[in-house]
Amino acid sequence: MTTITLHPDFRVGPVDRRVFGSFVEHLGRCVYTGIYEPGHDTADDHGFRRDVADLTKELGVTMLRYPGGNFVSNYTWEDGVGPVEDRKPFLDLAWRTVEPNTVGTDEFLQYCEREGIEPMMAVNLGTRGVDAAVALLEYCNGEAGTRWADMRIANGREKPYGVKLWCLGNEMDGPWQIGHKDAHEYGKLAAATGRAMRQVDPTIELVACGSSSMMMDTFGEWERTVLSYCYDVVDHISMHAYYEELDGDRASFLGSGTAMSTFIERVAASADAIGAQRRSDKEITISFDEWNVWYLVSRFPGETNLPVQRDAPRIIEDRYSGLDAVVVGDLIVSLLSHADRVAVGCLAQLVNVIAPIMTEPGGAAWRQTTFHPFATAARLARGEALQVQVDAPAFATAKHGDVPAVTAAATVDRETGALALFVTNRTDAEQTVTLRHPGATARLDGGSAVLADHEGARESREEAETYGMVDALAVEHGDGSITLRLAPESWTAFHGTLA
Ligand code: AHR
Repeated sequence: MTTITLHPDFRVGPVDRRVFGSFVEHLGRCVYTGIYEPGHDTADDHGFRRDVADLTKELGVTMLRYPGGNFVSNYTWEDGVGPVEDRKPFLDLAWRTVEPNTVGTDEFLQYCEREGIEPMMAVNLGTRGVDAAVALLEYCNGEAGTRWADMRIANGREKPYGVKLWCLGNEMDGPWQIGHKDAHEYGKLAAATGRAMRQVDPTIELVACGSSSMMMDTFGEWERTVLSYCYDVVDHISMHAYYEELDGDRASFLGSGTAMSTFIERVAASADAIGAQRRSDKEITISFDEWNVWYLVSRFPGETNLPVQRDAPRIIEDRYSGLDAVVVGDLIVSLLSHADRVAVGCLAQLVNVIAPIMTEPGGAAWRQTTFHPFATAARLARGEALQVQVDAPAFATAKHGDVPAVTAAATVDRETGALALFVTNRTDAEQTVTLRHPGATARLDGGSAVLADHEGARESREEAETYGMVDALAVEHGDGSITLRLAPESWTAFHGTLA
């Protein structure tokens, strides 16, 4: 028997809409033949695909991180600005791909502006440092009258872009990162770069690199050391996590949301320990700027084996199943449950590369299974996240031990009273749940669900297109409680009101 208890006065915190961000890296076909394909039937005057932009809108993406990822750690941003015909291709060492530099900072930022999406930029702290970071920030945000701002203006863009969010490098703890650093080297560099960037624009928000996964040997110590150098300079610490079903261990995969929650709580604790030591009133929040399902270990050969490629190669174009969609929904439950700490989230990535949107060059764009829970949550999760008390039976997993069989997160919009309730059933049996709302009035008007029971969706575009949200099982309103039924291995989004 599972019960979920809600009360409008028990709050986690406001949902930062930037938690529904995504990520565009110069990797594989995310940019070229992904968001950008001049000559495509739907291309706009700037060469960007309208079909992809429309799907991005439907997905509800609020923010896009750019230009990497591993790519940023050897990127010379100056090569990607100015007249396109003068730009030179370069060999990106992260993905061993020839980058034509057709799309660069201006094209990306103007795309975001046209689409009403907030950009998040990353600076190269692998092969470069303070100087290049400060120059890029001045190029983006500076007023006329200084070298880099004037270069932007000469390149046709008068008004500063006003980019708020800046990542100080990417996954600098990873030995695979070009220009990888130890925690002391990176911490000092992040502090120096951040301080200098704030001299250019004091209004920016800065993200220091946290561990690139909880499985890194340096996890914990990395956060402690890095923040001991840059606690006062940065606003957020980054987290990255990818989950996959390994060796047919379905239960552990279904428990990924609990692993994500543990990860968030550990990073928050590491940051708070430094804050306590410094007797600081400041709280470092989390930029979960890469998360998703990625068949990394089981299907990806590893970047060091890649031959040099050109012309937007097909790299890590994972195809997703119904099970993957349920897990993505459950990962969103984890993010919303930690709304007090998670300020930014990026589903990595947006198009073609481990992505909710796929395209064919010169052809169609379509939704993968994982598109649906993200789009639904981005539409419904408004206002404040509530503390949701879930009393559910244990669900045994080999990797994470016992986790709850049912997980839930809820949001309420104080102005309209709109309630959204997101619930995952990890078990392979239908579950009946009693939703209690003592001292409050609640109504659920309906809902929709993604079901794991659709392995075929990863086989072809046609199969993927038959997948979507299905109606939730009927809800029954009683006196002071509501009875919900959850389909086996499902993620359901209910909508209603709470006062
Ligand atoms: O999102 C794909 C890659 O995963 C990114 O480039 C990197 O930051 C992470 O390891």
